[in-house]
Amino acid sequence: MSEPYSLLILPGDGIGPEVMAEVVKVIDWFQANRGLNFDVSHDLVGGAAYDAHGVPLADDTMARAQAADAVLLGAVGGPKYDQLDFSVKPERGLLRLRKEMDLFANLRPAQCFDALADFSSLKRDVVAGLDILIVRELTSGVYFGEPRGIHSDDNNPENEGGRVGINTQRYTSGEIRRVARAAFELAKRRGNKVCSMEKANVMESGILWREEVQWVHDNEYPDVELTHMYADNGAMQLVRRPQQFDVIVTDNLFGDILSDAAAMLTGSLGMLPSASLGAPMANGRPKALYEPVHGSAPDIAGQGKANPIACILSFAMALRYSFDQGDAAAELEQAVEKVLADGVRTPDLMGAQGGIQVSTAQMGDKIIAALAGG
Ligand code: IPM
Ligand code: MG
Repeated sequence: MSEPYSLLILPGDGIGPEVMAEVVKVIDWFQANRGLNFDVSHDLVGGAAYDAHGVPLADDTMARAQAADAVLLGAVGGPKYDQLDFSVKPERGLLRLRKEMDLFANLRPAQCFDALADFSSLKRDVVAGLDILIVRELTSGVYFGEPRGIHSDDNNPENEGGRVGINTQRYTSGEIRRVARAAFELAKRRGNKVCSMEKANVMESGILWREEVQWVHDNEYPDVELTHMYADNGAMQLVRRPQQFDVIVTDNLFGDILSDAAAMLTGSLGMLPSASLGAPMANGRPKALYEPVHGSAPDIAGQGKANPIACILSFAMALRYSFDQGDAAAELEQAVEKVLADGVRTPDLMGAQGGIQVSTAQMGDKIIAALAGG
């Protein structure tokens, strides 16, 4: 048995707990069959934490997340919490984790599984075999920039309503360089191409972004191919010819939007995992949080309809990036691929060609069976 890896599980809200239950089965399987040793603990985040503690992330949970080798998060949010004050909304729990763990590099792969190529809203030949990686800056930009807020604008009689809302897009060169490095490092292990996206045509922070990414390229990664694109053109190119991309690196807000578009290229939001990585800890592993790209889907929560694959593939990313278990990660990814090739489908994947419809728990069981060679 290896040293135990500490893994903090935060299922969160909506479909979070039910998809996480399937991940726990997968973790148990790897412990029983592959000699991996996880020290798993559970805690609350989002609305679930608010219900228990009046805050979307308790200080104690924050401390446990800082100490864990990796955090696995389900989803946060739901209509029940829509009326809460901004400062205690479920999303703030997630943003606090990202910020305080300093998880600056958010990896969002968009991979099209062959069995699902007809599922995309785009034509099969545009998406078949698609394998791109969006690296989104996650701890700065307009999400966190100061000043921010909603203020009265009473001195301005021309302003009907008398209020002003402010957010600040702010990036330091250091913040840009470190996420650019992450993107170049990842590109070296893939197709060796990085496309950086910003709006240097209208934003000074975009000019800085472009210059700093270019600087990192010229000084440290001259052998990786680098191109730059305005983010609006990038959005268009993503739906026009997504195969032109390998790694895309972009800021927090553009990354939020572009990654949703990229996700849909693959057919279902229910398929896409993500990893959020920070600086290496004392043990050499990066601080890390893994979560599905999909949200809490309150409309289908508790009905056994949710697709657990994005969360299971997020655990595969944890195996690869936190625990150095690339073989186990590949084994898990292949098991998912096999189950999809066999036509097994949660309701979100039931397209025109039909398939074998299964529940959330049955999908988990099928993946375990495929792991076991069944
Ligand atoms: C995401 C989500 C979050 C974000 C929300 C839930 C705060 O949309 O992870 O993409 O905007 O970053
Ligand atoms: Mg988003």
